[in-house]
Amino acid sequence: MKLLVTGGAGFIGSNFVRYVLRERADWHIDVFDALSYAGNMANLEGLDKNRFTFTHADICDENAINDAVSSCDAVVHFAAESHNDNSLVSPWPFINTNLVGTFRVLEAVRKYDKRLHHISTDEVYGDLELDDPAKFTPETPYNPSSPYSSSKAGSDHLVRAWVRSFGVKATISNCSNNYGPFQHVEKFIPRQITEIIEGRKPKLYGNGLNVRDWIHTEDHSSGVLAILEKGVIGETYLIGASGERSNKQVVELILELMGKDPSNYEHVNDRPGHDLRYAIDASKLVKELGWHPKYTEFNSGLKDTIEWYRNNKSWWEPQKKYTEEKYRSVGR
Ligand code: NAD
Ligand code: DAU
Repeated sequence: MKLLVTGGAGFIGSNFVRYVLRERADWHIDVFDALSYAGNMANLEGLDKNRFTFTHADICDENAINDAVSSCDAVVHFAAESHNDNSLVSPWPFINTNLVGTFRVLEAVRKYDKRLHHISTDEVYGDLELDDPAKFTPETPYNPSSPYSSSKAGSDHLVRAWVRSFGVKATISNCSNNYGPFQHVEKFIPRQITEIIEGRKPKLYGNGLNVRDWIHTEDHSSGVLAILEKGVIGETYLIGASGERSNKQVVELILELMGKDPSNYEHVNDRPGHDLRYAIDASKLVKELGWHPKYTEFNSGLKDTIEWYRNNKSWWEPQKKYTEEKYRSVGR
C-alpha cells in the first residue's frame, strides 16, 4: 500500500502517520503538506526515512496534487485550516483550503480512480443543549456555526456529491475533539498546559460550561485506519470515545494534575458563536467495523499529554509568543 496523507505534518495527520507506519509494516506513506503555521517537520522526526517521503506543496495546486495522487494507491485527506478562532478573524484561508483544496483532491482521485478517506469534524452538526439526551449520529442534519465548521461541512457535501455523481470511492469520518502530543498551542488543552508552565493562569472562554467530547488522537488514528481498510464506500462514520467534559472540568483537572490550585484560572471573553456542546454516538463504527478506543481513561491520557509538553518545550516555544499575541488582540 502506498498511502498519500495530506496534512501529514500537522497534529492529527502526523500522529496518524506514526501510527500507520507502526501498525502496517509494509506500507509506504507520502506526506503531502504545505507547511502552514500549523505544519511542522519536527512532527515527523525519528520516523524511518525509507518508509515515507515528503512532498511540500499546497492541495490547491492542481498539478502538484495530481502528481502525488497519480502515484499512490489511496489518499487520507487531513489537510485543512483547523482552528475556529482563526476562522473568525480571517475566513478566507478556510474557504480556500477546506473547500477549494478538497475540490482539487476530489478531482485528482476522480481522474486517477483512487480510494479516498476524507477527515471531517463533529462540528458540522452544530451544537447540542447541555441536557439533550441525543448525541450526533451520521443522520444528524448539518447545522454548522463558524466559518471553520461551515467550510468543513461544505467539504463533506463535495465528497458526497463526487461519490454519487462520479462514482468516486470515498468514505468520510467526523471525529470529536482530539488531544495528545504535537497539538499546536493555539488549541484549548495545550494552551492551558503551556500557560501554567509559563507561570500564567489558564483561560476559560465565557462561563466555561461548554462541553467537548475528548478523544485521544491515537484512537482517532485507529478509527481512520479501520474505515480505510473495512469501511463501505459512500458511508460516513462518527469517531468518538464518550469523553464529554465541560471546559471548566478540564481546566480544573489540568491544574490538579500539574500540582496547582484547581481554582486558579481566569475567565476571558467568550468566542463569538461559541458552540455549547458536542457529543458523538460512535456505535456504527463499533458495531460495523469492530473499532474500540484504547484511551478510555481521560485522566491518564491527559497526564501523558502534560508530560509531553513538559518534556518538549523546544517544540512548542516558537509557537507560543505569536499565539498569545493573537489571543491578546481579541481579548481572549
Ligand atoms: P492542524 O492545523 O494541526 O494541521 C493541519 C495540517 O494541514 C498542517 O500540517 C498544515 O500545514 C496542513 N495544511 C493546511 N493547509 C494546507 C494546504 N492548503 N495544502 C496542504 N497542506 C495544508 O490540524 P489538525 O488538528 O491536525 O486537524 C487535521 C484534520 O482533522 C482537519 O481536517 C480537521 O478539520 C480534522 N479534525 C480535527 C479535530 C481536532 O480536534 N483537532 C477533530 C476532528 C477533525
Ligand atoms: O470537535 C472537533 C473540533 O475540535 C475540530 O474540528 C477542530 O479542528 C478543533 O480545533 C476543535 O475545535 P474546538 O473549537 O472545540 O477546539 P478548541 O481547542 O479551540 O477549544 C475547545 C473548547 O475550549 C471550546 O469550547 C473553546 C474553549 N477554549 C478554547 C481556548 C483556546 C477556552 O475556554 N479557552 C481557550 O483558551
